[in-house]
Amino acid sequence: MEQIKVVLNDNEIPKQWYNIQADMPTPMKPPLHPGTGKPVGPDDLSPVFPMNLIEQEVSQQRWIDIPEAVLEKYLLWRPTPLCRALNFEKLLGAPVKIYYKNEGVSPAGSHKPNTAIPQAYYNKIFGIKRLATETGAGQWGSALAMACKIFDLECRVYMVRVSYEQKPYRRLMMNTWGAECIPSPSTMTNAGKQVLAEHPDSPGSLGIAISEAIEDAVTHQNSRYSLGSVLNHVLMHQTIIGLEAQKQMEKIGVYPDVVIGCAGGGSNFAGTALPFVRDKIHGKKVQIIAAEPTSCPTMTKGPFAYDFGDLAKMTPLLPMYTLGHDFVPPPIHAGGLRYHGMAPIVSHLVNEKLVEARAYNQMETFDVGVKWARTECFIPAPETNHAIAAVVDVAMKAKEEGKEKVILFDWSGHGLIDLAAYDAYFSGKLEPYELPDEEIRRALKAIEGLPKP
Ligand SMILES: Cc1ncc(COP(=O)(O)O)c(C=O)c1O
Repeated sequence: MEQIKVVLNDNEIPKQWYNIQADMPTPMKPPLHPGTGKPVGPDDLSPVFPMNLIEQEVSQQRWIDIPEAVLEKYLLWRPTPLCRALNFEKLLGAPVKIYYKNEGVSPAGSHKPNTAIPQAYYNKIFGIKRLATETGAGQWGSALAMACKIFDLECRVYMVRVSYEQKPYRRLMMNTWGAECIPSPSTMTNAGKQVLAEHPDSPGSLGIAISEAIEDAVTHQNSRYSLGSVLNHVLMHQTIIGLEAQKQMEKIGVYPDVVIGCAGGGSNFAGTALPFVRDKIHGKKVQIIAAEPTSCPTMTKGPFAYDFGDLAKMTPLLPMYTLGHDFVPPPIHAGGLRYHGMAPIVSHLVNEKLVEARAYNQMETFDVGVKWARTECFIPAPETNHAIAAVVDVAMKAKEEGKEKVILFDWSGHGLIDLAAYDAYFSGKLEPYELPDEEIRRALKAIEGLPKP
């Protein structure tokens, strides 16, 4: 009998996160202060984040200990199983072995608690009482709501309006864990009011919701902001996925030829891939692919440029692939992939050609997601379907070339709260939308005049 699941015991959980900043082959460009054009320092960030997380953000230390209190909470669902997708392999009939990390087994249903738990913990020990954040699909908001409950912090989540309307159950998860969830753009902040004055029907975007959450955090006492993706420390917390996968693959004596993840802000992709990027930097042959939507083709169509992380220009200028900070992505269902930028770490690796990016339209992603559900049975989140589309792409190429391949990918979350999106797909309401080049050219006007990396 083939082994389907590779599991680690609780005491085999990795005890440190991996920080790729220690191993980057070329230095990353620093985030810049928009006023001075100079690199931002820890003090610039201190109204927004607690100092212990700022230290992680800029750390060059390769391994960072996971605090005992965080490990204890990770053990509620981690280590997650590494599974072999034997039924899906049979369906594809390609000479590939497909392994996936099932991050859908977390209480919130995705990889997001991997960073929500440490972020809530570090804020708590720094003396913070309340966190504000944004959420796209609602996965991050629900993960942070849960983490705040665990560490007894108040939590307010600004949820991109289109997702708020499509996903009432995500909001209810946040409410169940004791958090407040507000559709963005809202009238709670100046940033939200400004958008509503110009576009009363705005579907919202992560860029707008981030502006609202930062404004909220800096205007409330004892509050800080928490971000579910993009930043260095967030990606580092997620490396627990790739580190577990390495141990699990070692147990069965295999090493992947290809590592794949879907990328919105880049955190689940990076969390899975970065330990393998480290191997690649040290000479290992491994192909690493980030999958994004054709409706928000940040890495495949955007330039590598300095840009703001949010619409209201409250963040520092980040060196990243971007479609421009005022880009409002069309309301496709993969709400978690609708971000105009990409994590600076992932952007740097794409620019260095250590990582490649591919884009898939939502029709092809739902096609393969349904095939997955009908073979492997777990129903994937719409975001995860993009990673599955890349897996199929690689498998079909292997079939064409008659080459055997071992594929590892991150199954970033389940789609049980996203069934309305499946309904839209089944009833023919989805289109294979590709963002037109004119819209990209228009949106990129927003970064004209900003410094170049
Ligand atoms: C299930 C799932 N996968 C992927 C993503 C994309 O985020 P990231 O690129 O930070 O992993 C999200 C974001 O909400 C998500 O919910």
